[in-house]
Amino acid sequence: MSAPRGEFSSRFGFILAASGSAVGLGNIWGFPTQAANNGGAAFLVIYLLMAFGLAYPVLMAELIIGRHAKANAVTAMAVIARGPVSKKLGMGVGYTGIAASCLILCFYSVVAGWMISHFLASLSDIVNLSDFSAWLTSLNLIGNALFALIFLVLTIFIVSGGIKGGIEKWSIRLMPGLLAILLLLIIYVLTLDGAMVGLKAYLLPDFSKAVEPKLMVSALGQAFFSLSLGVGTMLIYGSYVGKGENLVSLGYAVTFLDILISVMAGLLILPAMYVAQYNGVVIYNESGLLIAENTLIFTVLPALFDTMDLVGQWVSMAFFLLMTIAALTSSISMLEVPVAYVVENHKVDRRRASWLIGTVISFMAMIIVVNFELLFGFIVMLTTRYGQPLLGFMLCLFVGWIWHRNRVLDELRKGYVQVEHSLFWKVWPFYIRYICPLAILMVFSQLFIA
Ligand code: TRP
Repeated sequence: MSAPRGEFSSRFGFILAASGSAVGLGNIWGFPTQAANNGGAAFLVIYLLMAFGLAYPVLMAELIIGRHAKANAVTAMAVIARGPVSKKLGMGVGYTGIAASCLILCFYSVVAGWMISHFLASLSDIVNLSDFSAWLTSLNLIGNALFALIFLVLTIFIVSGGIKGGIEKWSIRLMPGLLAILLLLIIYVLTLDGAMVGLKAYLLPDFSKAVEPKLMVSALGQAFFSLSLGVGTMLIYGSYVGKGENLVSLGYAVTFLDILISVMAGLLILPAMYVAQYNGVVIYNESGLLIAENTLIFTVLPALFDTMDLVGQWVSMAFFLLMTIAALTSSISMLEVPVAYVVENHKVDRRRASWLIGTVISFMAMIIVVNFELLFGFIVMLTTRYGQPLLGFMLCLFVGWIWHRNRVLDELRKGYVQVEHSLFWKVWPFYIRYICPLAILMVFSQLFIA
């Protein structure tokens, strides 16, 4: 049991790795699409409420459990249990989280594969290989399978390098690039005709669209997905944080960065949509709903890039590179969940565990590719609509009701001696015990109301 565990080398390393996990397709695709469809800033307001009010407390629960136990999700949940029953239950939560994390990685890699193929398509356009480019963007079976696999191999490669030498190293390399590309794209798009209308649509809230209860469900789901909650990702990253670090401020930094990137992505995507509209691309139908909501970035944005000639191809390449990087720093955190478990509890060498589990997940992803219509939507719904909120709910129960409050406090004191007198400690324990589980249940129950 005492094989040395990896650890992030610094606060900075942890923040980049954890925000790398958080910042992904959910931020740059999911959030702007939902904002565009649900009243712009009105959705943003609800989203902020959900993210700070419900997701941040659960994120803290995961980080604290992880750092306390210094172990994978299954062992960690057993450590904080009180008796044999809660121990079994906790391990069940851990196993379910691992399964959910693998399933999420399956569909995520399919989507990330599309990003790679679109990136290569722009590159081919630039060097005048237009037939190849057309094949790449046609989303055919072979292409879908091939690029999902390439993406998975990249993911496995990074995870097999370990915490410092893989996850942290690559997060530090990739995240600044992501931020730079995003900033440049925002600045560029905002100078184009039509962008200001989009900016208005984004920043002037239309509350008539944002009051429906279903929207709360979407916002909560979005917040949980965006902060990578419920499945043990943040728990395992928390387990690699040194005992001298202040978890409260780390959690805060990660939440803040995640929300910041979502808001920034909105500043890119919504104006880009209206620039496309200005250039003659139809984006909303008569009833004011987004056309092709789910393929927004594969239809509207490429149509926009097409209206921009050669510059458009470079912008397109930058955009899909941004998406690929965002997806990669997230997928490594998904794979780390099962890998950490197998390495620690079954004494398998990390490199071997990464390739083994990665191969199994690749097979599962191929099954999704081949049965796309049947499986894709179903697995997305199963994991993100049901799995994540329910697992988040269980984590609240464990931290709020089962784990000894004094142990939680002891854990937080490491790295933050004054925590007992902080606002955080005045609010959070009550919050995670009563408010979060109730609110999650209330929002969740909306799923079953017609
Ligand atoms: N948060 C990432 C995004 O927004 C995706 C992600 C990474 C994730 N790890 C996760 C989602 C674990 C759910 C569970 O794209």
